Amino acid sequence: MTSSVLLEERPEQGTDRIGLRAFSRLLCDLRRTIGISQEELSGRSGLSVRTIRNLETGRTERPRKRTCELLASALELSGGEAGRLMAAAGWADGVWKPPTLTYPQRPSELPAATSILVGRGHVLAEVRRRLANDLAAPNSGRLLMVTGPPGSGKTAVVLHAAYQLRERFPDGQVFVDLDGSHDVPLVGDVTARLLRALGVDRWPRSAEERAAMLRAVLADRRVLLVVDNVDSEAQIRPLLPCLSGSAVLVASRCKLWALPGGHTIELGALSLQESVLLLARLAGRERTQAEPAAVHSIVRSCEGLPLALHIAGWWIAARPHRKLGDLADRLADENLRMRYLRIGDLSVASSVEAGFRRLPETARHALHRLGSLRGAFDVQEAAHVLEMTTVAAADVVDDLVHWQMVRMTSPTVGGIHRYRLHDSVRLYVSQLLGCEDGRPRDGERPHGPQENSRVQKPAVQQCAAFGETLGRRHF
Ligand SMILES: Nc1ncnc2c1ncn2[C@@H]1O[C@H](COP(=O)(O)OP(=O)(O)O)[C@@H](O)[C@H]1O
Ligand SMILES: [Mg+2]
Repeated sequence: MTSSVLLEERPEQGTDRIGLRAFSRLLCDLRRTIGISQEELSGRSGLSVRTIRNLETGRTERPRKRTCELLASALELSGGEAGRLMAAAGWADGVWKPPTLTYPQRPSELPAATSILVGRGHVLAEVRRRLANDLAAPNSGRLLMVTGPPGSGKTAVVLHAAYQLRERFPDGQVFVDLDGSHDVPLVGDVTARLLRALGVDRWPRSAEERAAMLRAVLADRRVLLVVDNVDSEAQIRPLLPCLSGSAVLVASRCKLWALPGGHTIELGALSLQESVLLLARLAGRERTQAEPAAVHSIVRSCEGLPLALHIAGWWIAARPHRKLGDLADRLADENLRMRYLRIGDLSVASSVEAGFRRLPETARHALHRLGSLRGAFDVQEAAHVLEMTTVAAADVVDDLVHWQMVRMTSPTVGGIHRYRLHDSVRLYVSQLLGCEDGRPRDGERPHGPQENSRVQKPAVQQCAAFGETLGRRHF
């Protein structure tokens, strides 16, 4: 399918400049093809060197027809080439018309989704319902966010939903993974990346103009943008005003409260039944049915986290000669668990680590300390471990809930909120081998220190600078 945008119809500066860039680039290419300098072209055409420079750098807003004719003649262009140059400047059939950009592409960029998706039926139904409803009501939001702890299946869910919704977005589906992007993304390189996917190969330099151009390109199309690993509202906001027929489906490690018109779906753990089903699908029903106690123990150790269950299932499937009880025993031992929740390039530790590294420094340090607490804790206990006031501790813990590293336990007892680290997060931070910048030493994955009391000796005590950082920031 081909759609087009008339540059003059778009008020944004960025879109006007696309046409100029096409002309500038063509002029420059034609001159270089015959191997002459700007000065020589000036001599041949009678135009000043400055005029030629301005034309080639896109500084001239609308090249005059006479100028184009002089250039075509000086460059000794054939009829066809001269026509191309005139058209690139907007002059066709002797009348100036805005240059037309064509978008021949209908991107279909969704990566493969996991072949097994257990549970999450209600989540997929909700995504479908909301995006379908939104399309029916032109002024409502087109933004849907899926959030949850590391390894909870955010990417899997948005991809499955995107495949189910493909028909509704006939102009294409674009997938962008912002992991590792330090850009304030959709305003920088990622915008360019989206434009390229949508068939535009020239864009303005300024981030603001690029965003405006992206909105213009999306305005008359129905495209589904799937953006994975979003960390902040700023990464998405530039897209929102334009989503008349398009939609953005986001997977985010934290809740993005400050986006207007968006809806958030939070992913929790899989239920016991779903977890057992997932293990059975991966490891084979006969084996799981033969050792129900081991299956339940594995499910408990994995906390219903799809990533952990997936790894456990593959571990079993890859070892037909082993008992499920072997894995259950290893996972039940917290000192071994993270070591066994790893297979190939997938591991629970690295999934937590990816989220951990994106935390603000103070949150990383606080989480590192809170990793010494086993079980649920209240703000008083957090304040004690963090060595800060309860008011400050309440804010820190709230931030960690926001980043999906800590969860609030339910129900709250006597009106006092209690919290706990997700087990995978607690094991990751409490088993760090070093404490520089809250990262494992030498890129090691955690496995192993002894845990024999409710409050372990914090690994971070080894790091004097750490306490100072916290103290300076919070007292
Ligand atoms: N509901 C599910 N059923 C089966 N496997 C799942 C499910 N959700 C996620 N997975 C698998 O678990 C792993 C982690 O999921 P992923 O979507 O990458 O998590 P996240 O994006 O939240 O970190 C992937 O291998 C994925 O295929
Ligand atoms: Mg993901």
